[in-house]
Amino acid sequence: MEFYETINTRRTIRDFKEAPIDIKVIHRIIDAGMKAPTNDHMRDWHFLVITDVEIIQKLIKKIPKKVSDERLDWIMKSWKLEDDYQKRMYCDAIPKQYQMLLNASCVILPLFRQKQNLLQPKNLSDLNAFASIWCCVENILLASTAENYTCALRIPLGDEQEYARSVMNFPEEYMMPCYIAIGKPAEKAVYNKQKEYELINRIHINQW
Ligand SMILES: Cc1cc2nc3c(=O)[nH]c(=O)nc-3n(C[C@H](O)[C@H](O)[C@H](O)COP(=O)(O)O)c2cc1C
Repeated sequence: MEFYETINTRRTIRDFKEAPIDIKVIHRIIDAGMKAPTNDHMRDWHFLVITDVEIIQKLIKKIPKKVSDERLDWIMKSWKLEDDYQKRMYCDAIPKQYQMLLNASCVILPLFRQKQNLLQPKNLSDLNAFASIWCCVENILLASTAENYTCALRIPLGDEQEYARSVMNFPEEYMMPCYIAIGKPAEKAVYNKQKEYELINRIHINQW
């Protein structure tokens, strides 16, 4: 797939159909992740790749399987979202967190080594390792798209990260920024409309 076509095709979907993924495809996708820029030149990243549905089930045990309409309504109200596109996206996304990971062809946990306390940075550069792994995540999303797969992300909430560590046995000094679900879109997969923008209004040449 041509580069700009890949950029324009990449979308988040949270409805996957049953579909296998070849280990060679996974290798190419992760190798694209490994090519991302990195703050300290080290690319000290590892990737837990989970294709076994029983292990996925164990990994996502802490994520609510269902979100009731009342709970969704409460979340939406308490977040005070104004934008219609954004509201529609969250209404679709919140109830699908468990199923999108469960039904994926594979779940990848990217891992990066964080030296300082990520939640108490003293300056921007304390966040460099975190910023770098997100460059890697984007390459993974784009490579998955180029391989005709699609992705969904979840940020681990509460004690999900420590729970994932206990299930997957990754070392104390590594952190997971997100879960990446990779799969093939189900027949009626929802593609939430992206927020529109006028490029010309976002570019400020020489001065704001
Ligand atoms: C940092 C970050 C965190 C995200 N967290 C979640 C998440 O926890 N759950 C989820 O379903 N999607 C998550 N997403 C996906 C976004 O909802 C999605 O990228 C956004 O709605 C734009 O849609 P698009 O990817 O189709 O362009 C996240 C994306 C990013 C970049």
